[in-house]
Amino acid sequence: MIFDLTEEQLAVKEAARDFAQNELKPGVIERDSKMEFPTEQVRKMGELGFLGMMVSPKYGGGGMDTMSYVLAMEEISKVDNSCSVIMSVNNSLVCWGLETFGTEAQKEKYLTKVATGEWIGAFCLSEPEAGSDATSQRTTAIDMGDHYVLNGTKNWITNGGSSSIHLVIAQTDVEKGHRGINAFIVETSWDGVNIGAKEDKLGIRSSDTHTIMYNDVKVPKENRIGDDGFGFKFAMKTLSGGRIGIAAQALGIAAGAYELAVDYSKLRTAFGKPISKHQAIAFKLADMATEAEAARLLVYRSAWLKDQHMNYDMASSMAKLYASKVAMEQTVEAVQVHGGYGFVKEYHVERLMRDAKITQIYEGTSEIQKIVISRSILNGELYAPVLPSVEHA
Ligand code: CAA
Repeated sequence: MIFDLTEEQLAVKEAARDFAQNELKPGVIERDSKMEFPTEQVRKMGELGFLGMMVSPKYGGGGMDTMSYVLAMEEISKVDNSCSVIMSVNNSLVCWGLETFGTEAQKEKYLTKVATGEWIGAFCLSEPEAGSDATSQRTTAIDMGDHYVLNGTKNWITNGGSSSIHLVIAQTDVEKGHRGINAFIVETSWDGVNIGAKEDKLGIRSSDTHTIMYNDVKVPKENRIGDDGFGFKFAMKTLSGGRIGIAAQALGIAAGAYELAVDYSKLRTAFGKPISKHQAIAFKLADMATEAEAARLLVYRSAWLKDQHMNYDMASSMAKLYASKVAMEQTVEAVQVHGGYGFVKEYHVERLMRDAKITQIYEGTSEIQKIVISRSILNGELYAPVLPSVEHA
């Protein structure tokens, strides 16, 4: 793995940092408290190319690598995780899923719109009784010849109310188990797509998370993604890349909390000197820097593996598992460094602490990541470093 970032990657990181610090930070506390969807900010993210970063320019995307995407996610997540989850779902799940597995016609019709941010997409897998156990889909799509009829309920859908298309996973043949599952592109303007109330959440409060009800929705056959029965593998492969995006979000939360803690500790004095000069705080900062760096290596490595077209299933789960744990721990520490100020909204760290929790839950809980990792280990996929052999003198 090459540790130096290219000039292009550094420019993307810088652009994302500028956008986050100058355009997201000013209103982030208010949007969070009011659960206000960041309409204007999402429009700007589309304009700046943050919503279809890895999509080929042929379909209106930025044609960038996963590494650039991760760098942008990290910077935006230091500030506004409602914006970064909208970005993550649109890039990793919706755009990547469509570009990798969609037909040319599907890409022309849908990818060109979601890659530019003209439309936003959502990924609809979780159900009231099928969150982690994704094969137990109750949503059905009955084959009627030239179309399917979709019925069912999806829960905790990010971008649920703001999206123009949903990628919906549904059971088409119960007898076939996971091989009887399909994925469909559903336009939210179609009859029978009903959006439930926006969830009132602990964190990422201005992103819109909804229950969606599909009642006799007529889905044209040409809107099925992949061959008949490919839906479960579509979901698994797409989520595997999605976990890199959420790992980058968790890394951004950890790094953002760390930066705030460093800045505050240099300004705040106690017992005659800045608190950063007291070992109690300095040691916390040392631990935080070390753990964030370890998480960063796992996250960047998973992005690098994806860019090299190598298997990244285990690496993305490891990155998400570890980075989300670090995000949770570091935000708690950052609040502690801030003392009483950390407990009030104005100082940003309490929001990052609330946001951190979801990174251990969505796109597969930490327990799901451990299932993926342990199965990979037992299948003999050793996590050996992929390095050229080194000549020793
Ligand atoms: N790539 C390709 N195929 C895969 C795969 C992958 N990464 N993972 C599994 N498969 C295949 C298997 O090979 C198997 O196929 P065969 O039978 O042909 O060999 C098939 O899928 C079934 O696999 P398993 O037997 O391993 O399935 P399982 O029922 O034991 O479940 C699981 C595995 C890892 C637990 C899976 O159910 C899972 O990942 N669950 C979590 C789902 C999840 O992440 N939900 C989050 C919702 S989306 C979200 O949060 C978005 C948002 O809005 C933010």
